[in-house]
Amino acid sequence: MLMIPFVDIPAQYAKIKIEVQQAINNVLDSANFIMGPEVQLFEQEFASFCHAKHCVGVGNGTDALTLALKAIGVGNEDLVVTVPNTFIATTEAVSRVGAKPVFVDVNQDTLLIDPNQLETKIKQLRAKNLPVKAIIAVHLYGQPCPMDEINEIAGKNALRIIEDAAQAHGAEYNGQRIGMISDATCFSFYPGKNLGAYGDAGAVVTNNAQVAQSIAMLRDHGRTQKYEHLMEGYNSRLDAMQAAILRVKLKYLAEWTEKRVKNAHYYSEGLAGQSYLQVPFVAELAKHVFHLYVIRVKQRDALQNYLKKAGISTGIHYPIPLHLQPAYKYLGHQAGDFPVTEKAGHEILSLPMDAEISQAQIEYVCQVIKKWLSDNS
Ligand SMILES: Cc1ncc(COP(=O)(O)O)c(C=O)c1O
Repeated sequence: MLMIPFVDIPAQYAKIKIEVQQAINNVLDSANFIMGPEVQLFEQEFASFCHAKHCVGVGNGTDALTLALKAIGVGNEDLVVTVPNTFIATTEAVSRVGAKPVFVDVNQDTLLIDPNQLETKIKQLRAKNLPVKAIIAVHLYGQPCPMDEINEIAGKNALRIIEDAAQAHGAEYNGQRIGMISDATCFSFYPGKNLGAYGDAGAVVTNNAQVAQSIAMLRDHGRTQKYEHLMEGYNSRLDAMQAAILRVKLKYLAEWTEKRVKNAHYYSEGLAGQSYLQVPFVAELAKHVFHLYVIRVKQRDALQNYLKKAGISTGIHYPIPLHLQPAYKYLGHQAGDFPVTEKAGHEILSLPMDAEISQAQIEYVCQVIKKWLSDNS
């Protein structure tokens, strides 16, 4: 049986194996495992990729968010507004700096933060004199949030913006690359991401020199020099071996991104005109980089099982919205509070997507889905 993995990391590795092994060997020979030239060079190269001035490498995407929040001054008792349709790392970072997440629902087409609801929520919080400090815009699935609207709302309310771009390397909004727009844009290089390390890694990209400097200190025990510490920080440096691997992969990122976009196009063409299925909606000003290709269908679980039997791996991002997770029981939410996110949670299905999947494989996936739809409608 034809097997189609959700993401084919080994196939990608096979193409860059020699370069990666050379990069790893160079780090081993240099014995520069902590910080050093590979980290510095990756930071310069990734900042340049994002058209931004600074990049600070950190241990992972969750730490990138945590340190960015700390660097912009979010702390005890502050409120940070974000969406329930994201991975828990977004709000873990908020809690880790002592602040509290406040949710607003997503737009029903993009499943990203809804600016109208954001504005209403901020007005409500302000009316109650609550200490709302920042917004985290999550560019979920690879599609950037409507940053013009978000910037305007933040500007009117003196709020800071952090972007969670863990899934959006190379995405663009209104002609601007993600990383050059807000105070701090946080990336994850978890292995399956569009730019993935071979272990944990992350980075914060910013045009703000002060934010960059603060994160550079926080990630390394708050030190200014070897044994001089301006503050207590963390141990969350970008590993030199991962930086060397990321430098190899970064050279291919633009090409891999175009392949993802093309693959998304093949899927959307192959699945067009199916009345019981929605293909991803791409907003007018967005360059979507398709970390995930997410369709919507009723009886999603049945389709997922059917695909599994046909050898096709899929995922659900995410099945339980954050406000209904046991971890956030203390926030006092209940089912029905964020209906768009909740409905999506029952309908979304992420199909196999990366730069490696072939057009023929995509056509096979589409064929199997269409067979299921015709048998079940
Ligand atoms: C939207 C989102 N935010 C944050 C993270 C956290 O990144 P990491 O796993 O590198 O800590 C991830 C990925 O895992 C993510 O998908």
